[in-house]
Amino acid sequence: MSSDALERLRLCGVLPRHVAVIMDGNGRWAVQRGLPRHAGHRQGMNAVREAVEGARQAGLKILTLFAFSTENWHRPSNEIGALMGLLRLYAEKEKRELRRQGVEVQVLGELHRLDQGTRNAVDAIVEGTRGGDKLRLNLMISYSGREELLRAVRMIARDAAAGRLDPESIDETALEQRLFTAGMPDPDLLIRTSGELRISNFLLWQLAYTEMHVSPVLWPDFTREHLFEAVLDYQGRERRFGRVTAGE
Ligand code: FPP
Repeated sequence: MSSDALERLRLCGVLPRHVAVIMDGNGRWAVQRGLPRHAGHRQGMNAVREAVEGARQAGLKILTLFAFSTENWHRPSNEIGALMGLLRLYAEKEKRELRRQGVEVQVLGELHRLDQGTRNAVDAIVEGTRGGDKLRLNLMISYSGREELLRAVRMIARDAAAGRLDPESIDETALEQRLFTAGMPDPDLLIRTSGELRISNFLLWQLAYTEMHVSPVLWPDFTREHLFEAVLDYQGRERRFGRVTAGE
C-alpha cells in the first residue's frame, strides 16, 4: 500500500528511530456508539495491528505502545479481564504474522501481576518472535514510569550496598541500564491520541527530549495514515536538546 503521506515522509529525510504511543480514547469511542467499553478495546486491538504494519512500512526501528498501566489495575474487574483477554488473543493470533514480518516483540512492565494464562501467552509471543530484525515492538503492560524509576533506584542501592557500585560513579548510564528500555535509544517521537495533553506516568526518564504529537483521533480510529502524518510533523521539527541549534 502506498500513500501520499508515506511518499512525503520518505522524501523528508530523517525518520524517528523510536516512536512511543499513548493509545487513548478506546472508552470514549465505545460510549459514542452506545457500546460497552470492551468493544472500544477490541477495536483498539485492530488499531495496534494497523500501527505495527504502518511502522514497518515507514521503516521505523522501535515502536513502544502503552497498552496497560499499573493504574489500570484499579479499573472494574470485567474491564481488566477484557483487556487481559485481548492481550492473550493478540499474542496468540498475531505471533506467526509478526514473526513473518520480522517484528520482534518485547513485553515490559510488572509482569508478575499478570494471571498465568496471560503470562504464558506473553512469554510465547516474545519467544516466538525473537530475532526479528525489521521492527522492535515494545508492549508496555502493567507499566508505570515512576515504578520503573523506583525499581532502577532499588537495583542501584543494592549494588552499592553490596560494594559492586561506587556511589560516586552513579551517572545517567547507570540508571538507564536498569530501566526496562535498557539498550534502546530514547523515543524521538511520542504520539498521544484522543487530544489529551498528558504524559500519564509513561517513560518519565526516557521522554526528556522527545518531540510530542497529539492527535485528536480516538485510538480505535487511528490508522497508519495518522501515524505517517505524525512522523511528517516530527520531520518538520528542529530538535535542539536544550542547545541553540541541533548538534552544536
Ligand atoms: C486507553 O483508553 C486504552 C487502554 C487503557 C488500553 C489500550 C489497549 C488496547 C489498545 C487494546 C489491546 C492492546 C493490545 C496490545 C492487544 P481508555 O479506556 O482510557 O479510553 P477513554 O479515555 O476514552 O476512557
